[in-house]
Amino acid sequence: MLAAAHAAASTDFFLVYLANIIMQVQLNTIHKQFGSLVANDEISVLFEPGRIYGLLGENGAGKSTLMKILSGYQRPDRGEILLGGAPQHFASPRQALAAGVGMLYQEPLDVPVFTVLENYLLGRAAGGESPRQAARALEALAQRYGFDIDPHEHTSELSMGERQQLELLRLLAGGAQVLILDEPTTGISAEQKDILFASMRTLAREEGKTLILVSHKLDEVQELCDYAFVLRKGRLVGGLPLPCPNQQLVSLMFDELAPRPARRQLGQHAPALSLQSVQVHTGRLELEPVSLQLQAGQVLGLAGLEGSGQELLLRACAGLLPLSGGSLLLGGESQPDWNYPLARQHGVAYLAAGRLEEGLVAGLTLTEHMALVSHTHGLLVDWPQNRKLAEQHISTYQVVGQPESYIENLSGGNQQRFLFAMLPQNLKLILMEHPTRGLDIRSTDWIWEQLDQRRAQGTAILFVSADLDEIAARSDQIAVFSGGRLLRSLPAAETSADELGHLIGGAL
Ligand SMILES: Nc1ncnc2c1ncn2[C@@H]1O[C@H](COP(=O)(O)OP(=O)(O)O)[C@@H](O)[C@H]1O
Ligand SMILES: [Mg+2]
Repeated sequence: MLAAAHAAASTDFFLVYLANIIMQVQLNTIHKQFGSLVANDEISVLFEPGRIYGLLGENGAGKSTLMKILSGYQRPDRGEILLGGAPQHFASPRQALAAGVGMLYQEPLDVPVFTVLENYLLGRAAGGESPRQAARALEALAQRYGFDIDPHEHTSELSMGERQQLELLRLLAGGAQVLILDEPTTGISAEQKDILFASMRTLAREEGKTLILVSHKLDEVQELCDYAFVLRKGRLVGGLPLPCPNQQLVSLMFDELAPRPARRQLGQHAPALSLQSVQVHTGRLELEPVSLQLQAGQVLGLAGLEGSGQELLLRACAGLLPLSGGSLLLGGESQPDWNYPLARQHGVAYLAAGRLEEGLVAGLTLTEHMALVSHTHGLLVDWPQNRKLAEQHISTYQVVGQPESYIENLSGGNQQRFLFAMLPQNLKLILMEHPTRGLDIRSTDWIWEQLDQRRAQGTAILFVSADLDEIAARSDQIAVFSGGRLLRSLPAAETSADELGHLIGGAL
């Protein structure tokens, strides 16, 4: 009897041991380029069963690309994927799932016109199950992970969090042993996040599955994961057991700061923007009262991990989000009903991070963009005049393109140049989100030269950037945000890279 129990136990142990070996995930020198951009640079990494990994890195670091390769959604240029030591060549996500790898994508892939049950059954071989049996199986599975799922609801009526839960269940029912979740907490409630994290713990601790959380948010990786791999600009730059001091992760996520060239001080001691206990609320984040001053000709850089509140403040200054408290003064004058059209009238320009989403209009030529911003009197657009203007901007701002070029066919650097060309002269304030993200050094320098000329005319600049080097090198003053709070405002010239890194990690 005892011997039988012992044999059973050791069989169990053997099976678990076997399963672990089988599902060990190994990526060897994975390389992926999009044109000349290296999204994954010879990345080698090992994931063990029963553990929760964080794949951490700033936006654009290459996280999604690496995970899309592991889940069969994209093919690597070279490198290999091994599951339990056996090489895999996934031609599709379906093949990867059949081998045990499932991924919850950043953008949901479900079909909204289907019911929950239909989505759940999507892509599965029709077993002998009746719809009723399948619905019951789905409910039982949902219950196990604390998900609240009604099989007969239409997917279009589900919240983002519920759609995620459904997709996770579909992957689990499809046999996923390795589960990848790409930025799953974007767009879901705090309560849904807690349920999701609890289910991930159950899956790893009780079922021995391998969990990979892809995120650019330090806090959530620290909260959930056993181990973090950090990507920076397409490279794997390190791995650390968690929890660890935030500072260690921050220094891996961001480049070392380069020595800073001396920069001209152009502050003119005339108030440009003054924020007094400004508060901003959105559904997801609350910005605690912020007070900041900006003089004409000055540059204020807002630093912090993405989602720390700095973007909210910038958008509130542009009149795109209402203030929920405090006051905003422009040129010393209080603006109680601040909004975007008013901001434009007062000489405030806002440049969004997504050039083609908010600043420029895909499908329009450069000439048509000129017509959009020019003040036409009457109904007729003066096309020859707008074409001439487009030509002038192309030559003054050295844009590689023609008046007839569609804006989306220009490179990122040239789009940004053209966006600058369209900015009116004599602005009081320019607000920018990641002004040089994805641009090469030449375009970056060019943009800051243009901004310097505007500073000399008294334009103040407020910008958000994830690039600490840019913040340190281009600002007069730096305001550091963490967790919806302004932690500190300091003069850029006296701030060391270390100090900045510490603050960004949330240390006081
Ligand atoms: N399909 C694609 N075509 C061209 N460039 C891409 C494509 N997918 C990703 N990239 C680029 O590859 C880099 C890495 O992107 P991604 O893996 O999505 O980063 P992350 O998930 O870390 O934010 C970025 O510069 C991105 O613009
Ligand atoms: Mg991504």
